[in-house]
Amino acid sequence: MGKLWGGRFAGATDALAHRFNASLPFDVQLYDEDITGSVAWALTLGGAGILTADEVATIIGGLEQVRAEFQGNTIVFDQADEDIHTVVERRLTELVGPVGGKLHTGRSRNDQVATDFRLWTMRAVDRLQGHLAALQRALLASARANLELPMPGYTHLQHAQPVTWGHWALSHFWPLARDAGRLAAARAAAAVLPLGSGALAGTPVAVDRQALAAGLGFAAASQNSLDAVADRDFALDFLYAAAVLGVHLSRLAEQLILFSSAEFGFAVLDDAYTTGSSLMPQKKNPDTLELARGKAGRLIGHLAGLLATLKGLPSAYDKDLQEDKEPLFDAAETLELALPVMAGVVGTLRLRPERMAAQLEPGLLATELADYLVRRGVPFRQAHELVGQAVQLAETRQVTLADLSLADMQTISEQFEAGALDVFDVAAALAGRQVMGGTAPQALQQQLAAAEAAVD
Ligand code: ARG
Repeated sequence: MGKLWGGRFAGATDALAHRFNASLPFDVQLYDEDITGSVAWALTLGGAGILTADEVATIIGGLEQVRAEFQGNTIVFDQADEDIHTVVERRLTELVGPVGGKLHTGRSRNDQVATDFRLWTMRAVDRLQGHLAALQRALLASARANLELPMPGYTHLQHAQPVTWGHWALSHFWPLARDAGRLAAARAAAAVLPLGSGALAGTPVAVDRQALAAGLGFAAASQNSLDAVADRDFALDFLYAAAVLGVHLSRLAEQLILFSSAEFGFAVLDDAYTTGSSLMPQKKNPDTLELARGKAGRLIGHLAGLLATLKGLPSAYDKDLQEDKEPLFDAAETLELALPVMAGVVGTLRLRPERMAAQLEPGLLATELADYLVRRGVPFRQAHELVGQAVQLAETRQVTLADLSLADMQTISEQFEAGALDVFDVAAALAGRQVMGGTAPQALQQQLAAAEAAVD
């Protein structure tokens, strides 16, 4: 058997054109979904009285044999095979004879491939959710073990206010929780069955598409056959979820690269996730984290690429749509490696509390001093100005804010009194932020419990 569509052609396809046209090198990934969809279609044809019970049994037996050949890696491709659908049908017919040719009754590769690809996407989401939850659990474990460990908090990458390691670790947990929601939304978008749409106008076979949908694990059947064979919104939703997740992994990676540098030294990466230099014997490079950061680029690119592919397409199928698969395959493969690697990095991270403590300088408590003045009735704007002057004075003397004496402060304002010097206390600054979402111990306990509930 050659092409699935050879009848009306007198001349052969140019060899390069065949290669250009072929999707088999990548859509071979869809073999399991293709066979599952075909089994359901054979049953549907049986139900509609188009195939006899014997024919259905023969075809399904043959399809399962083809599936076993794929699983056992014994399937042999033919030069003329154009895509996965061709391979499955050709091999089926070789195995069961001409009855195999009845399977494609009332079906087109257009509704077939859309069905396969949606099934694949639903399964890919299920795999990714597992990997995502594992990374979330690694962050939770790090947060739980170091919930109240003080460290400097940064804005603009400058010392801002004290926070804790647990607070920081949870700040990377919640974006991932939202990613799980975005992936779930992409899965829901994929769970609409196109099969039965035929090439574009709908199959002439009397089929209960809702029942077919339910049998294949879809939530509903599509409403419009012209739309159904061209709709790749679910693929965009998946790529969007993947791109945002990639951005989140990149941000986490970037921060861990900084924290493990000699300058910060807050954390030490395990040898298992680092590499050396061929030239500099002392080097321990965070390559895995750099790749996690770098891979966000290709994930973003896949989304932008498919958006561009789709923007000019009229309704119903155009071959441009064959370009939909590689970006999703690559996005899923990229994340299926990046997520467990990041979970490993986080799970093996060794913290250095003494390095964090060394960075907890009094400047991080300047806001506390302003709040002290506010408690004494000074308007915040004025308090901010006065503490700013104190910071400047300390800077000119090349001492820390806490090294100023009360007399020094009083040259700036009479409002500074004895209690002013008590504000330079990191634990008190942390404890003061009891608001929901804040960095006080009890607020963090509550946040941790909420995070644990979110991942279960
Ligand atoms: N390989 C094709 C794809 O991935 C299958 C659908 C082909 N349909 C067609 N009318 N040529 O899109």
